[in-house]
Amino acid sequence: MSDRYCVVSFPETDYPPLTLPQHQNLSECLTIQNSPVLFGCRTGICGTCLVAIEGNIPPASEEEKEILEAIAPGSDRVRLACQIDLTNDIKITLL
Ligand code: FES
Repeated sequence: MSDRYCVVSFPETDYPPLTLPQHQNLSECLTIQNSPVLFGCRTGICGTCLVAIEGNIPPASEEEKEILEAIAPGSDRVRLACQIDLTNDIKITLL
């Protein structure tokens, strides 16, 4: 287990920032109580968790890129929240 933590914040919402262990899977710890992000499949297929991300995290996998190009073509900050590797502090905004 990593002992490093990352702050996940939700600008322009009333949700307070969350401090989560590095590499934590967001779909396992963001809930409707603690975040504005909604999840569906949690495996990178449905696109429900589409968000804009600000922060220095690893780029999307080829599979994630394919979905992003289909549902949000041309935006470089959009990601699937369930597929993010949490390596740094990030800001999440809903689209
Ligand atoms: S929850 Fe379905 S793509 Fe993320």
